[in-house]
Amino acid sequence: MTKAVVLGAAGGIGQPLALLLKGNPLVSDLGLFDIVNTPGVAADLSHIATPAKVEGYLPPDDGLKKALAGADIVVIPAGVPRKPGMTRDDLFKINAGIVRDLATGIATTCPKAFILVISNPVNSTVPIVAEVLKSHGVFDPKKLFGVTTLDVVRASTFVSEIHKDLSIAPAVVVPVIGGHSGITIVPLLSQSSHPLPKITAEEHAALIKRIQFGGDEVVKAKDGAGSATLSMAYAGAEFAAKILRAVNGEKGIVAPTYINLIADKAGGDVVKKEIGQELEYFSAPVELGPEGIVKIKSIGKVTEAEQELIKAALPELAVNIETGINFIKAPK
Ligand code: NAD
Ligand code: LMR
Repeated sequence: MTKAVVLGAAGGIGQPLALLLKGNPLVSDLGLFDIVNTPGVAADLSHIATPAKVEGYLPPDDGLKKALAGADIVVIPAGVPRKPGMTRDDLFKINAGIVRDLATGIATTCPKAFILVISNPVNSTVPIVAEVLKSHGVFDPKKLFGVTTLDVVRASTFVSEIHKDLSIAPAVVVPVIGGHSGITIVPLLSQSSHPLPKITAEEHAALIKRIQFGGDEVVKAKDGAGSATLSMAYAGAEFAAKILRAVNGEKGIVAPTYINLIADKAGGDVVKKEIGQELEYFSAPVELGPEGIVKIKSIGKVTEAEQELIKAALPELAVNIETGINFIKAPK
């Protein structure tokens, strides 16, 4: 029996993500919360012939608490998306407060749940959730994840395009580390399961840039109607499925995700040494188990050029982390 909850379930990501979770046989109960439209979304999904029992809640009458009651996994895609010309950091003003309030609901209702944060800017919203949980004395770093899977999915797709063979996309694995915005996104192409064919230095640089700025490509194409929703729902469901399998006892599941490096002190220390900085949060490959993070894995052998990409990511990442922490610890 595993209850999954989506906060922001009526949104562009929330609805298809809820659909994909409804289709996951490991979900027995699906709680949906949003400030609008969840009764309709829940009624619609509830007709699908899969095991999950679906319930939708709105804020009145303690709807958030009712949705979260008994939750094992909470996925948070609540908040505003970008429009052309905006950075993810521009979303902080609105989304920081939304995420803080939802995290308070989790801390007081289902503090032992796995928490998967999608709301941007992820580099800062994950520290916000952690600080809220700490303030309630219920922070378990092994169970808090910033969802960076879309970067990994994009890397698989774009590398398979370079190979001129989309049929290999599902099998292409490229670790993506760092954070989730622009230059903080660091694809380790040298570790691709499918080594790159001979391409020029310009094509190589363009591939890295496309993975780092893939979000902008979608924001531009949607032309004011928001950012990635369908690919994000796919990626979010992929990551949630890995957590569900790990909770269900499957061993050896590894995925890159943005985490507090204290989740596995020894592994986190190795990563800090590898990146050459004392950061609290970083996206690295982690091994998952029934109680959350079992091990933070080494980022492995990287090229000199990749080491430079890591170095370039660190200052922005450090500022993003501090901004998130201060939002709770030292509110202005
Ligand atoms: P959207 O506007 O379509 O949906 C957001 C939903 O959140 C809406 O239904 C809204 O009513 C709801 N919401 C707002 N305040 C809420 C609150 N207090 N409690 C519960 N629900 C609330 O936006 P979207 O396209 O689904 O994007 C959502 C977020 O996900 C954005 O911040 C976006 O930047 C982010 N995102 C992250 C990634 C990633 O890779 N991590 C990828 C794409 C989008
Ligand atoms: C993405 O990578 O698509 C998301 O973070 C949304 C965005 O704002 O680009």
